[in-house]
Amino acid sequence: MDRTGYRMETVAVHSGEPRPAPEGSVVFPIYQGTVYSIEPGTDYHDIRYIRLNSTPSQRYLHDRLAALEEAEAAVATSSGMAAITSTLLAFLKKGDHLLAGSCLYGGTHDFLTQHAPDLGLGCTFIDDQRPETWKAALRPETKLFLVETITNPLMRVPRLQEVVEFARRERLTTVIDNTFASPVNFRPLSIGFDISFHSATKYLNGHSDLVAGCVLGSRERVERVRRTLNLMGGSLDPHAGFLLARGSKTLALRVRAQNANALALARFLAAHPKVKEVNYPGLETHADHAHARRLLSGFGGMLSLRLKAGTEAARRLIAALRIPYFAPSLGGVETLITQPALSSHAGMKREERERLGVTDDLLRVSCGIESPDDLVEDFGQALEKV
Ligand SMILES: Cc1ncc(COP(=O)(O)O)c(C=O)c1O
Repeated sequence: MDRTGYRMETVAVHSGEPRPAPEGSVVFPIYQGTVYSIEPGTDYHDIRYIRLNSTPSQRYLHDRLAALEEAEAAVATSSGMAAITSTLLAFLKKGDHLLAGSCLYGGTHDFLTQHAPDLGLGCTFIDDQRPETWKAALRPETKLFLVETITNPLMRVPRLQEVVEFARRERLTTVIDNTFASPVNFRPLSIGFDISFHSATKYLNGHSDLVAGCVLGSRERVERVRRTLNLMGGSLDPHAGFLLARGSKTLALRVRAQNANALALARFLAAHPKVKEVNYPGLETHADHAHARRLLSGFGGMLSLRLKAGTEAARRLIAALRIPYFAPSLGGVETLITQPALSSHAGMKREERERLGVTDDLLRVSCGIESPDDLVEDFGQALEKV
């Protein structure tokens, strides 16, 4: 339920809407104007201008995104990467240091290793499953702890409650990438995270037809991010914002179907004699199943697998599948399959990638909303051919 007491399905359809609606329009209109008249003496950041993230279409979208994750405030960004970089730059200054999970999304990892050092920001990658090792990684200048709800592509669920408790003791700001879980399966602010962000390109929009991001948190923290974003120029265009708001209306329905499809497919694959390993936190055999069950209200639409016959067989499986597209990205209504070593983790050195378990034979599936029976049958016929 959001602040109004409505449940997720209702919040997804109606949140952010002013009542009465402009001109009685059932659909919130696109305000295309770049700039709006203001009172003399208005503060720079309060001028209503698209780059300053303050126009009517943007405000509507911000209220809707905040409501979805029970946040006080939200700001939309031009991509998921704009969300993470503007958040880090808002909360860290030259000389600061952060702790980060060791298996972050490739773009975030590359920013932290290739650009953050030039800005004077230090980063130590920690094992987010082993809280007892975190204290040793702290430095006097450590300010922030960054993790993901479900890591890519092995679908591990870090010790999220322990991250919050540790960060509170050590006075660190906690930031979490909640893209893989979506607000339907996890609301990080409710367990004490300071900031949650998303690549809204994925589940929030859900139709693989735009790039966007968002940052959620208290009014004060989001305002800090908005002011940094205003100067970095990463605002979301009103048309993309309109599509994102429209896509988000079916978020609850889509993600519940994706949870169910991923669980059905994971169970089928785990029982198949040609499959060596299935990584899905909803399986009782998954290493994080117990705490994932406590934290999440659904296990998500993402899974990964390896075949007993290795990389060549994995390629034959991809070629034999009829429903999934072979494509990176995730969270859309259509099922996608990818080889993370060649896509999301291609920027990493082979040894580092393999140390994290991202070997060439690993396949990742983003389940769509097709019939679970059709997906299972399609994987079944393709497995017969490998
Ligand atoms: C978990 C995660 N975070 C962040 C991003 C970056 O998002 P975007 O491509 O919208 O910039 C991605 C993109 O794949 C992602 O998977």
